[in-house]
Amino acid sequence: MRAPYIEVVADADGVARASADLFARLATDAVRSRGRCTVALAGGSTPLRLYRRLAGADRQRVPWEALELFWGDERHVGPDHPDSNFRASDEALIGPLGLPADRVHRMHGENPDAAAAAADYERTLRESFGLDLGQVPMFDVVLLGLGTDGHTASIFPGTDVVHESRRLVAAPWIEKLGVHRITLTPLVLNRAAAVMFLVAGPEKADVLGDVLRGPYQPDVWPAQVIRPVAGTVSWLVDRSAASRIPHSLLN
Ligand code: 6PG
Repeated sequence: MRAPYIEVVADADGVARASADLFARLATDAVRSRGRCTVALAGGSTPLRLYRRLAGADRQRVPWEALELFWGDERHVGPDHPDSNFRASDEALIGPLGLPADRVHRMHGENPDAAAAAADYERTLRESFGLDLGQVPMFDVVLLGLGTDGHTASIFPGTDVVHESRRLVAAPWIEKLGVHRITLTPLVLNRAAAVMFLVAGPEKADVLGDVLRGPYQPDVWPAQVIRPVAGTVSWLVDRSAASRIPHSLLN
């Protein structure tokens, strides 16, 4: 695994700007070499500044006509629910860009059977990537956040999905939240050509230091399980979140 690239910027706006720069480059490169760019969007609040920037000031920097959007995870709710990752990215990015529905592949969190929603999304992935059973999709870009407990996507501490090595999509029960989630598994995330972690805020400093410094304990800090086989990992972090990153890791 390659060493992660870590970019420390002043604040959350800086994370959005740096992420937009990298995303535009990765998307352009993917379209140039593969004719399209497949993206797994992150949920949560940190990426929303990026999404609004990509739909606004930086709109022209991305070949949107060749992008296919997916999600890294979704809450077990419908697309109109306030907690829905789809709804948040639709409001910030998809709606303002007017992206056509046939290139926007959301997870169906409205399905009361979360496991069925996960199986349904596996089918969506296989169809969109033209895969047979047993094959793993390679996303061009995966966007991820980091929870204060070390989770990423919906891969939470102490859940089996940390070690999922067969399924593409899982529907873990998150005991501490009392909910199911739907999430891409490490099998898929680690197949990505490029992973971008977006982290901002002083509340993330401790966990970011733990995740990057080690030791390797993915059951404690699941974000550590993201170690792409051949892809790149970039951390776009603001200064307040970076305060505990060992200087030896900073480029
Ligand atoms: C979600 C995300 C989750 C998120 C982290 C960080 O569905 O909430 O997939 O993994 O990225 O919880 O969230 P913030 O960016 O809001 O701090």
